[in-house]
Amino acid sequence: MSAPSVAVVILAAGKGTRMRSNLPKVLHPLAGVTMLQRVVNTARELSDDIVVVTSPDAEAVRSALADAQVRFATQAQQRGTGDALAAALPAIPADVDQVLVLCGDVPLLSVATLQRLCAATAKEGVSLVTARFPDPTGLGRILRDGDGCIRGIVEERDASAAERRIDEINTGIYLLPRGRLDDWLGRLDVGNAQGEYYLTDVIRFAVEADLPVASISSDDLAEVTGVNDRAQLVRLEREFCRRVADRLLQAGVTIMDPARFDVRGDIDVGQDTLIDVNCVFAGKVVIGRDVQIGAHCVIEEAIIDDGAVIAPFTHIHGAHVGAAARVGPFARLREGTDLGEHCRIGNFVETKKARLGAGSKANHLAYLGDATLGAGCNVGAGTITCNYDGVAKHPTVMGDGVFVGSNSTLVAPVTLADRSYVAAGSTITSAVPVDSLGVGRARQRNIDGWKRPKKDSAAD
Ligand code: UD1
Ligand code: CA
Repeated sequence: MSAPSVAVVILAAGKGTRMRSNLPKVLHPLAGVTMLQRVVNTARELSDDIVVVTSPDAEAVRSALADAQVRFATQAQQRGTGDALAAALPAIPADVDQVLVLCGDVPLLSVATLQRLCAATAKEGVSLVTARFPDPTGLGRILRDGDGCIRGIVEERDASAAERRIDEINTGIYLLPRGRLDDWLGRLDVGNAQGEYYLTDVIRFAVEADLPVASISSDDLAEVTGVNDRAQLVRLEREFCRRVADRLLQAGVTIMDPARFDVRGDIDVGQDTLIDVNCVFAGKVVIGRDVQIGAHCVIEEAIIDDGAVIAPFTHIHGAHVGAAARVGPFARLREGTDLGEHCRIGNFVETKKARLGAGSKANHLAYLGDATLGAGCNVGAGTITCNYDGVAKHPTVMGDGVFVGSNSTLVAPVTLADRSYVAAGSTITSAVPVDSLGVGRARQRNIDGWKRPKKDSAAD
């Protein structure tokens, strides 16, 4: 027998009022990825057929998912979760076996839990994910009979005092038989405390139709927690980061304080690397072995090779740091920076589209933009590449073993050939040949017997 076909519906049309935001709730990021994108990524592992239900004014949601290969359904008015699923139904072919219902505001749900849910569901049956919450306030409660069989779900506001004491809650995640949904959703009514079409009522319909109703429970509360306000969002993000830190600690990485460690994307770190406190990692970051990352670094979209040292307060975005290179403190590596092995970039040095060959250095106060340096170059303090003429960017090229004296301005396009030398304080506007010295400054002259200006005491 072949596996049942599954379409996924992600409910994301809710108003999200409690976020108090102009941004739709599901577009708020959790650890750098929007909640909705996380749910889509998870859903994708189970089915290619994904329908996202949005409100008519949620153009931002549709454009955020423009490349996600999902289909959209519009719920004209937010009349409840049952109405939201009904809005998606015309988009789901009648020959699909099952519909997996997810919520766009439950961002950390795992694929493993959904696979368990699928495995627990009879082909014609219904199943749902439940959990026991220490504080179930606000959530739908699971009603079971004396034999432990599910009878239905009651929303907090419709629940009796006794029902409110039930701590088994509905996570809002269901697997439902497609063939029954037109009938069931057509029978929903608004006779409840919120005056909404409750999707939860379909569980009662399944019980009444004598269909098998199964549940799986998750004891990982973070993965089934829905986000209604910003406090819940940041708490879940903290939990997400703590878990990444735990995984890295297990893998042989020292995270000095997992509570002061932020990952907003994907991070991969090699053994014996040490990450000091208050670092933020965003986008895709790959860090090798035996690397040291000092306190207060922000590292985005970067590759850092084995043995590199990133000293405190360094900002890296879109750069590659070669093995055993030393960067910072207070350095800024911008997009297109590529440092070879054993390079050194010191304090208050900014690089952009700068490729440095092995062992090259810029130890203090410099700007290297659109620059290509060979191996073993030394760029003195205060040196800058004048790469921009107000219209276009121009390249600076250095060969191997070039020495640039302090406070030089290299007016691009310009080339400093192998082993050339630039005198401190030079303004270099044309090429310096191999093995030669470029001096681009006025010669010093001293004025003998020069008198200091005198202060006019009456003017004080
Ligand atoms: C719902 C469940 C509740 C469960 C809880 C878990 C119902 C009636 N109740 O309650 O049993 O414990 O989720 O988080 O289903 N949505 C729409 N259109 C609407 C209303 C909601 O698309 O008209 C979407 C929301 O964007 C959200 C999801 O449905 O992604 C859940 O809606 P929400 O209002 O948060 O439901 P709860 O009241 O929390
Ligand atoms: Ca909710």
